[in-house]
Amino acid sequence: MLIVLLGAPGAGKGTQAQMLAARLGMLHLGTGDLLRVEAAAGTALGRLASSYMDRGDLVPDDVMISMIQARLSAPGGQGILLDGFPRTLAQARALDKALGDTGRQVDLALFLRVPDDELVRRLAARATCPGCGRVYAAAAGPSGSDMRCEDCGATLTRREDDRSEAVRHRLEVYAEQTAPVLDHYREAGSLHGVDGEGPAEEVGEALARVVSLAGASAGETLQL
Ligand code: AP5
Repeated sequence: MLIVLLGAPGAGKGTQAQMLAARLGMLHLGTGDLLRVEAAAGTALGRLASSYMDRGDLVPDDVMISMIQARLSAPGGQGILLDGFPRTLAQARALDKALGDTGRQVDLALFLRVPDDELVRRLAARATCPGCGRVYAAAAGPSGSDMRCEDCGATLTRREDDRSEAVRHRLEVYAEQTAPVLDHYREAGSLHGVDGEGPAEEVGEALARVVSLAGASAGETLQL
């Protein structure tokens, strides 16, 4: 099965993709995470990506399409869960073509619906561990002077693109370039929207139900 997880910045894609992939035994490919690993390692790709990411712009399509194509052939257990790709119509069409060439398709496009004021609130409150990558929502994570990761002890940081000007720009870029991708999957009959505003565990249950129903109608048995 190949699932794409769509939603605006801060909708909870990373949080939900991690939970769903673990639950279903799927390979989780988060393009933002992959780019941040390259940036932290100081590779040429990482330096190029940072110059776009830090101000909230999208990394060029050709770079992203090659990055995903190289990973689509990796063994994916029960399948692959794409988080953060595709983000433009050109990426969606390139993904269809790459999958079609090997007799596959996007089975399910899951869209997390979250209002803009909640997105801004979440991104303003997010802290990230540079050591292990764990993401904290301010209300749930360590606070005050003890901003250390509960897993690895590294000092938590804020993402450069979570500054308020960058967040405003990311939301504009999302509306202009990524929202049309929803229509692409709506027309293909694979789009399913889920309310992403409740507690993360409830959103996770709702997503798992949609995946289960879609798998059943396609004749597949998924262990939830
Ligand atoms: P990426 O890392 O993918 O960023 P994004 O899409 O802007 O999404 P975020 O990571 O900000 O949010 P999320 O939806 O994953 O939410 P999260 O789970 O963290 O991409 C970064 C950049 O890389 C892009 O701007 C672009 O430059 C580049 N890039 C990546 N892919 C690309 C592509 N395909 N093409 C071109 N460029 C690309 O949750 C957010 C916060 O809310 C967290 O603190 C979390 O704990 C909290 N939270 C989560 N769920 C809930 C909940 N239910 N209730 C309350 N709080 C919650």
